Amino acid sequence: MSSTPAIHRENGTLYIEGVSCSALAKQYGTPLYVYSRRALTEAYNAYASSGAKVHVAVKANSNLGVLSLFARLGAGFDIVTGGELARVLAAGGKASNVVFSGVGKSADEMRYALREGVKCFNVESAPELERLNDVAGEMGLKAPVSLRVNPDVDPKTHPYISTGLKGNKFGVAFSDALGTYKRAQEMPHVQVSGIDCHIGSQITDIAPYLDALDRVLDLVAKLKAEGVPIAHIDVGGGLGIDYGNGDAPPKTEQFVSTIISRIHEQEPTAEVWFEPGRSLLGNAGVLLTTVEYLKPGEEKNFCIVDAGMNDLARPSMYDAFHDIVPVVETAERGEDAASTNGVDGGATTWEIVGPVCESGDWLGHDRALAVQPGDVLAILSAGAYGFTMASNYNTRPRPAELVVDGETVHVVRERETVQSLFAGEHLI
Ligand code: LLP
Repeated sequence: MSSTPAIHRENGTLYIEGVSCSALAKQYGTPLYVYSRRALTEAYNAYASSGAKVHVAVKANSNLGVLSLFARLGAGFDIVTGGELARVLAAGGKASNVVFSGVGKSADEMRYALREGVKCFNVESAPELERLNDVAGEMGLKAPVSLRVNPDVDPKTHPYISTGLKGNKFGVAFSDALGTYKRAQEMPHVQVSGIDCHIGSQITDIAPYLDALDRVLDLVAKLKAEGVPIAHIDVGGGLGIDYGNGDAPPKTEQFVSTIISRIHEQEPTAEVWFEPGRSLLGNAGVLLTTVEYLKPGEEKNFCIVDAGMNDLARPSMYDAFHDIVPVVETAERGEDAASTNGVDGGATTWEIVGPVCESGDWLGHDRALAVQPGDVLAILSAGAYGFTMASNYNTRPRPAELVVDGETVHVVRERETVQSLFAGEHLI
């Protein structure tokens, strides 16, 4: 592998592997999602080299082209809907490598997953367990399950992306876990295979994982004493990434080896499973956008770009920070850019906002940038929970998606057309 990062600058211009972002914006238009095959491969290998089983959280990026790359690497997948299972299969993934999480699995989704033969259902409540037993029974099958337990640990991340606290809807309450496992053991159409836990997302510290693991391992000891077999421990996803805002997550290899050693101290034969999303994809992708207008004002200077909250919801939804950089650095464009820019005649700070009719439609606050209309900006760390959370609000077609592999560009999703948005609608 090359030592140059997959996303880097050459003579002041931003490159994804061997292709310049200026050329991509010119050829494919903006807003445009671009992912690097090398970056996601390296991020995957950082997990997989430990020997742990990696299940890519499909919700982070469900593009078929992207999923197909992970399938070729031998990845498993973590899904939360039947739709995501269909995507995994269409991308060449195997159901036998899929774990099915989620609090609201419908009977139809269970039937589909059982028919396809998923590896494990991460069951999140006692009534879900009952339903799964019934559905598997109707099909004459046994459903492999682990319970997703809620360890009541504070991951100290954004409240909307904490999932392992008592007040969250996720998982079986810790105090009910033993009883629910015993019930599962009695069920004729359920086969207990392991235990699962997911405490949240964008967690940049190992400590909350170890706290959760302590509780999970205590429970595993109790379960074994009761004769409940636990062959795997799924520690969920959630490792955070550096968004360029001072976050300092541990290196994946260090995170993974710390978790595995802790588990193997007590359970030397347990398989260790992970369900990462953001840490595989976040920093493997960017969203390119073009400056439409500059609107300096008394209180704020607005830089209006052609990407909006419908394309990248994270800033408006979670107050999330994404670094925003010019694709071509000012020095490379010559003196004119800085001198004609902004209210002060030089670089100034801008509210980077989109065209959507909402005051909450912002992508970055107070960014010091020397920009002019027509410039292309790159919104960094947009490879996870970017396109998958995009909407058609304001009848905005969603962006195209590209995967760059060396010098080769793959269009893994065409830009939507307005006409395609009408499909399925009818005049009265
Ligand atoms: N497994 C389960 C059961 C999950 O609920 C999630 C994420 C993951 C794995 C993957 O977590 P990751 O490694 O990506 O942190 N839309 C939010 C993130 C929501 C995460 C929900 N669950 C965002 O843009 O920050």
